[in-house]
Amino acid sequence: MLSKKLEDAINKQINVELWSAYLYLSMSTHFSTKGLPGFANWFEKQFEEEQQHAMKFMNYMVAKGSKVELKPIDKVATSWESALSAFEDSLAHEKVVTANINNLVAIAREEKDYATDNVLQWFVSEQVEEEESVQGIIDALNLIGNQGHAIYMLDKELGQRTLESDPASAT
Ligand code: FEO
Repeated sequence: MLSKKLEDAINKQINVELWSAYLYLSMSTHFSTKGLPGFANWFEKQFEEEQQHAMKFMNYMVAKGSKVELKPIDKVATSWESALSAFEDSLAHEKVVTANINNLVAIAREEKDYATDNVLQWFVSEQVEEEESVQGIIDALNLIGNQGHAIYMLDKELGQRTLESDPASAT
């Protein structure tokens, strides 16, 4: 059984992961309506990946005999001025998630809960991948600017993403 402090903090993180999924689903829908199916696909995969993160935490809680508490999911934005602004929002959000995960590690270590610390290390690595991949797309969009042909090509590339092809999803 996890300590009450860790149980509460992980339940909060499950909600953050599900909110992330909701945010990326909203971004996916947004790009679908903007005629950018590749961008929509990329965010749909993010949506799926975030649900997996939530499940990973939930399965761990169950394995430890702790109580999973699913909290309400706050609303998310529904439109973005540009592809760049959506990815910038994603990066800002992932940085918050990284800080949350680091905080969970700090609590686990404070409590000498090394099993939880070990599970959290997967998330520590995952956040490095997440921030890197979003930053890479931001860099590409900054290079591209308003060149329609290049946006079209990037959309084709992002349309290739599958969860299996994404090293960040390997567990
Ligand atoms: Fe589950 Fe994108 O952090």
